[in-house]
Amino acid sequence: MALIEGFRVQNYRSLRDITLGKLSGQQAGDPLTPLTVVIGKNGVGKSTLFDAFGFVSDCLNSDVEAACDMKQRGGLERMLSRESSGSIRFEIYYREAQGERPITYELSIGQDSSGRPYVESEMLKQRRKGQKHGRPFPFLRLDHGKGTVWAGEEAVEIAGEEDKTQEAVELTDLRQLGIATLGTLKEHPRIKRFRDFLKGWYLSYFHPDAARSLPSAGPQKHLNIHGDNIGNVVQFLEREHSDRFRLILNRIASKIPGVKKIDTKVTDDKRVLLRFNDGAFDDPFFAQQMSDGTLKVFAYLLMMEDPDPPPFICIEEPENGLYHKLLESLAREFRSHATGKKGAPQLFVTTHQPYFVDALTPQEVWVLEKGKDGYSSLRRAADIELVQNMVNQGLPLGGLWYSDYLDAR
Ligand SMILES: Nc1ncnc2c1ncn2[C@@H]1O[C@H](COP(=O)(O)OP(=O)(O)OP(=O)(O)O)[C@@H](O)[C@H]1O
Ligand SMILES: [Mg+2]
Repeated sequence: MALIEGFRVQNYRSLRDITLGKLSGQQAGDPLTPLTVVIGKNGVGKSTLFDAFGFVSDCLNSDVEAACDMKQRGGLERMLSRESSGSIRFEIYYREAQGERPITYELSIGQDSSGRPYVESEMLKQRRKGQKHGRPFPFLRLDHGKGTVWAGEEAVEIAGEEDKTQEAVELTDLRQLGIATLGTLKEHPRIKRFRDFLKGWYLSYFHPDAARSLPSAGPQKHLNIHGDNIGNVVQFLEREHSDRFRLILNRIASKIPGVKKIDTKVTDDKRVLLRFNDGAFDDPFFAQQMSDGTLKVFAYLLMMEDPDPPPFICIEEPENGLYHKLLESLAREFRSHATGKKGAPQLFVTTHQPYFVDALTPQEVWVLEKGKDGYSSLRRAADIELVQNMVNQGLPLGGLWYSDYLDAR
């Protein structure tokens, strides 16, 4: 499975320069874990970090200008860190699978003379086969839409032969990412794989009301960002995985307090209705009558049961609307799916909730703080010696956070 080992954000709102995990040029840090959780007080930049992933994904799926205007981002001017003159920059350090050589993607988004955002530069690079140390070699390098790309799977693998596979490229649209265009071409399989990985990212903006809508029939493979196609996803599972379908619903039902059984009913006009039986009444309730928290847990658990899950899933504050005792088990549930094994998703979660954090290790948890200068800084809980020692002695991490051991003193 693909794993993001590190992510650096520069000049994105309060994130003037923060790094999560390990990068090509910062090898000292440990890589991100398959489950990564960011905690912190109000206003420290959790949503901003969540949205930094969302922004990169939106840049690929539409274009950088549209992405700046989406999701209340309010345009590039507002997104650039205050009092900072640089461009917005991202660096993603990732492996396509365990044992593969890491790949670095660098993206820089600037403002042209008329104030419009454009793709200033982009780079994809990787070390040569067998090369353990030293400089990685680019296989895509673009600056203001112009640059060089090295075609083929084996491009730049052999020292001295780079020129043979090198091609000059010039893009016509500076609002589109180069990987969006070049990643559709057969001669660039490595760019295509990276583009496909980024395309597969899933950011959950789950909305219980949306999930109550009655979707028209038609199976759909994955839950969409607002979760209003839960019924369609259930239908997909029923059709494609009929053998496992009952088992999955039973398993989910056993994990939601107060729910005894979940099943589906198809209406005459072929819509799929989800039915929840709480054991107290003979007749089941439909999704429209279920509580926000129940629907939310159902959506998360369904997402975790996806036989072909997205490679990277971001969830913001899963605790909202959930009973506190459910949170520790939800965190364990997330962990049991983000195993780091082939086909398993990587999960990135932001939270306020100590109960959720109780189930986590200090390696998995990052603390965001805001300095006096108004910018965010980030620390891994495992790097706070006292915290690591107390966890080693059996104290739960969320409790330590609650008692202020994770805050800067
Ligand atoms: N362009 C900018 N430059 C610097 N800081 C900014 C910029 N735009 C917004 N901010 C600041 O970024 C901070 C981070 O907000 P964010 O919504 O990410 O916090 P949060 O950790 O999600 O908080 P909450 O827990 O309340 O949801 C805000 O306090 C805001 O003042
Ligand atoms: Mg927030």
